[in-house]
Parts: sequence; C-alpha cells; structure tokens
Amino acid sequence: MEMDICYGGVPSKIPNNSMGIRGYDYVEFYVGSGKMTAYWHAKALGLDIVAYQGPETGTRDRISFLLATKTNMKIMITASLQPSTSDIISFVNQHGDGVKRWCLEVVDVKKTYDAAMKNGGVPVRPPYRLEDEHGYVEQAAIKLYDDAEINFINYDNYKGLFKPGFEEPVQKYEVERKTTGLTHIDHIVGNVHVNEMDFWASYINKVLDFETFVDYGPGDISTQYSALLSKVVRSKDGVIQNPINEPYKGKRLSQIDEYIIQYHGTGIQHIALSTTDIIRTVRNLRENGMEFLDRAPKTYYDEIRKKSKELDGLITEDIDTLEELGILVDVEIGSGGYLLQLFTKPINDRPTYFYEIIQRRKGATGFGQGNFQALFESIERDQERRGNLTETEDE
Ligand code: FE2
Repeated sequence: MEMDICYGGVPSKIPNNSMGIRGYDYVEFYVGSGKMTAYWHAKALGLDIVAYQGPETGTRDRISFLLATKTNMKIMITASLQPSTSDIISFVNQHGDGVKRWCLEVVDVKKTYDAAMKNGGVPVRPPYRLEDEHGYVEQAAIKLYDDAEINFINYDNYKGLFKPGFEEPVQKYEVERKTTGLTHIDHIVGNVHVNEMDFWASYINKVLDFETFVDYGPGDISTQYSALLSKVVRSKDGVIQNPINEPYKGKRLSQIDEYIIQYHGTGIQHIALSTTDIIRTVRNLRENGMEFLDRAPKTYYDEIRKKSKELDGLITEDIDTLEELGILVDVEIGSGGYLLQLFTKPINDRPTYFYEIIQRRKGATGFGQGNFQALFESIERDQERRGNLTETEDE
C-alpha cells in the first residue's frame, strides 16, 4: 500500500525542536454534562473511554472521561459536580461547552516551562507533580486566548493507566458504532478578535519558538459575503500546527465574528483529526450519526475531476465516492500533493466548536486553501439558518 507522509501532528519520542515537544497530547473540554458528551464521543466519533475520574475514584468536585483511539489520540471531557468548582462552572457559563486546554507532551516539563517563561509566556500554573503508587506525572500551564491554556506534560515516570486520580472507567458506553480509524491530531485552530491574530501569532512564536508557516491576508479567504484572516504558526519540526483566525470586514458578519459573539470570547474553533482512509472514516462517521456541513455543489466536483485529469490522475480516490460523501479535495501546487478534508457541524449547542476530518495525500502540507470558498459558503448557509449572517454597518 502506498504510504502517506503524515506532516502535522505525528508525535515523536525524540523531538526535533528546541522546546523538547514530542507532540500533541490530550485536549480537554469543559462541558455542562460530562456523561452525555463522553457518550457522544464514544458513539459518534468512535473513541473508547479508557480512563475515568469521579466520585467512584475519590474525586468529588468534578468528573472526567478520557477517550482515546488505539493510536493514543486523546480527548478528555470534564464537567463540574459542585457549584464550588468555579473554574469549570464559570467557563461553561461564559462559553458553553468548549476546549479549556491542549496539552503538549514534552521531554522535561520544567525545562520547557522555564524556557517559555524566559521567552515571555504568561504563567497559569508552574510545574507540579501528581503522584500515586504507580509513579508521578509532571504538568504545567501557560495562558492562551481568553480562557484557554497550553499545558506541558510528561508521563515518563508513570506506570499507571493514565495519570494519578484516574482509574478504569466505571461505564465504557460500548455502544454499537462503526470504527472511525482516526489516528492523531493534525492541527488545532483558534479564533480571536480583530487585530489580535498578529499578537497571538507572535506570542506563540516567541514563547514556544514556533514560526509562521502560512499567512492568509485580505482577499485570500473570502466569499461574496464575509471574510477572515488567518496565520498558521507551527513548531519548527512541523509536529505542532496552530492556525489562528480573525474576522475581516465583508458585507455580512464573518463566521469568526459569529463564533466570538456566541462563545462570548476567543478560543478554540476546531481540531483537525487525521485518518489514513478518509472515505471509510467519513462513511462510518456518517453512519454513527455525525453531522457534516452541507455538500459542495456538483460543479465543485466537476472541477476536481478536470484538475485530476490534467495532473495525470493525481487523485487516486474515486471522485464519485468523494462526492457522495461530501469530502473536499485541495490540490496543492506547492507540495504536489493533495488534501482531503471535511468539517462537521458545530457539535455543541452554541455554533462554536467543530471537528475537521483530514487526510494528507502525497506529502500535502497545507490547510485546504482551495476549499475555503466551498467550506465557508457551507458554513454561511448554516449561519443564515441561525439568523447570524447579518449585514455589517460599514458596507
Ligand atoms: Fe483546519
């Protein structure tokens, strides 16, 4: 079988960057109902509940479910059990369900944290140790956007299930569902206010010794109604990729504005999950009940067929099947590869956070620039249904 180069997100035990970052570790959501959200991730996204923290394990103020794939892609769902857990309650009150933190597995938490501090990082929590009879896990946190955090974590001295406080799950929700074949986190995207993108891009570049990989300026990402600006910052070995979007003026309200209004602040917009067989993944996710954005028009796929023919049949997937499943294709001029991708609808009650499913083929390194128009027109159709594609005053 032809092997793909997986560019973003593939963790490596021996890092090739100055901050000792091995790769993405878990992403933690703060939500209103932990059980329901964990169930949805098990049923629709096809993840397994592998570790649990709650009253049965001696934790009385919160409940956390760790979900994972066989390849150790990890999502944590956390909810409050008491009014006193003010960090969770106030987060959910303000933002609705959303991503509180993304963790980077590092070789040495103290070293990475100290370097981040020296580079101008805003501290949230200095390095601390969680210990039990299986050893210890070290963790630390720095600030990101309004209420989010980047965490550094290391498990090298821990032999237990996940980390202290977590045990075998009481309830695994082994419901009937199709396997989805998701392998790892490819990239994590943030939405920020007007004029904040450059601030956050230079903050992350400085603090984590990242670099700006792509810069989409005015006119690069727009539909007839609305627009946005985007910068992709990444670790110098490409293992961590973090696009940052800000709204840009258009005739109607930008989807980034809609996010910020509904989220009551800035935060994580989407996480892209990688697969090596997007046709199977999307087919099975649809059967599991996952809702995706509306399909692109027929003319979009006619154009893809034409492009693929011109490039000697570059796209090896059956384009009729891609069309049937609504999967978008971006042929990259620069890398010579192509990207297959699709966005889910927002997964929570507020139209804020969603997932992206992505497959990088033949060395594709981009983020689907050729699909922005089709994707954003689909998003705008939903925005319109919600009554949020309103006219802006200055046009
Ligand atoms: Fe993305």
